[in-house]
Amino acid sequence: MAAADSVRKDFVGDEIYLRGLIEFSNYCKNNCLYCGLRRDNKNIKRYRMDISSIINTAKHVSDLGLKTVVLQSGEDLWFSKDKMSEIISQIKSLGLAVTLSIGEKDFSEYAAYKNAGADRFLIRIETTDKNLYAQNDPEMSWNKRCQCLHDLKKLNYELGSGCLVGLPGQTLESLADDILFFYEIGCDMVGIGPFIPHPDTPLGQEKSGQLDLALRVMALTRLMLPDINIPATTAMETLHPDGLILALQGGANVIMPNFTPQIYRLNYQLYPGKNITDTADDNLRYLKNKINQIGRKIGSGTGTSLKWQKEQRKKNKND
Ligand code: 5AD
Ligand code: SF4
Repeated sequence: MAAADSVRKDFVGDEIYLRGLIEFSNYCKNNCLYCGLRRDNKNIKRYRMDISSIINTAKHVSDLGLKTVVLQSGEDLWFSKDKMSEIISQIKSLGLAVTLSIGEKDFSEYAAYKNAGADRFLIRIETTDKNLYAQNDPEMSWNKRCQCLHDLKKLNYELGSGCLVGLPGQTLESLADDILFFYEIGCDMVGIGPFIPHPDTPLGQEKSGQLDLALRVMALTRLMLPDINIPATTAMETLHPDGLILALQGGANVIMPNFTPQIYRLNYQLYPGKNITDTADDNLRYLKNKINQIGRKIGSGTGTSLKWQKEQRKKNKND
């Protein structure tokens, strides 16, 4: 982790980039065994933010000085191609970078969102162990997910992926494969989080993933991909009060403060303990303080992945 910290400093510097997270819908057509938003969980109240409140929340993100909005939801078909495109272009007109985290779509839908102005896309592979994937994501296909990553790369998105650490039955070897996968697929961002059992899911009685192991997977990812963006994930912070700082000092350079309006937060629990934070304003004050305490500073620009920028320059030269 010390090596990852020093590589982080050399390649991406001391700036920490903040991304304003908006969890705009908790409807999901999928049924992943580990996730609190799974279709079969009837113990949560489902919500969709309307378009104007999504835009107002994005304005709040911008007013507090952040330069990126992350739009995240379950796989919710109500948000059609046209509706999403409209939301993206309205947020772009605020001058923000837009990251999408809305799951598996076909090539033409990803293309439409890129045309509407989306800059980045997050879709975790979750695990590269195909058997484990099949066990945990019934009905879903690992190959399809991999295809999504390739499509997004082809469309020139800044590409984000990641994995869960500590799923029941997951091996260390498969975690090593996950890191190689991030390298091979050319990720510009990688989010790694420990698995945390949610009581209203079939994995509710399983053991939690270990923070220490998740931090080591993250640190090794930094060593393999020195110039990408790596968030200190909320799951790390949820497992341990020092999770955030440990991550920032072990290779991470990004934080995603939650801007989801308070009335919805408790209904967006992918795992328990998530989302019981303060208001966005209070949380931001707290984060700024922490960042100063460890001698780092808040990034001033959009925090576009350096790896992605280098690749664009190369492409432009070859054109
Ligand atoms: N523990 C930790 N992370 C989880 N996610 C979903 N369920 C859990 C859980 N129980 C993660 C998945 C998904 C991301 C949005 O949240 O990796 O990609
Ligand atoms: Fe849906 Fe994503 Fe949760 Fe799976 S992990 S149930 S796709 S929100």
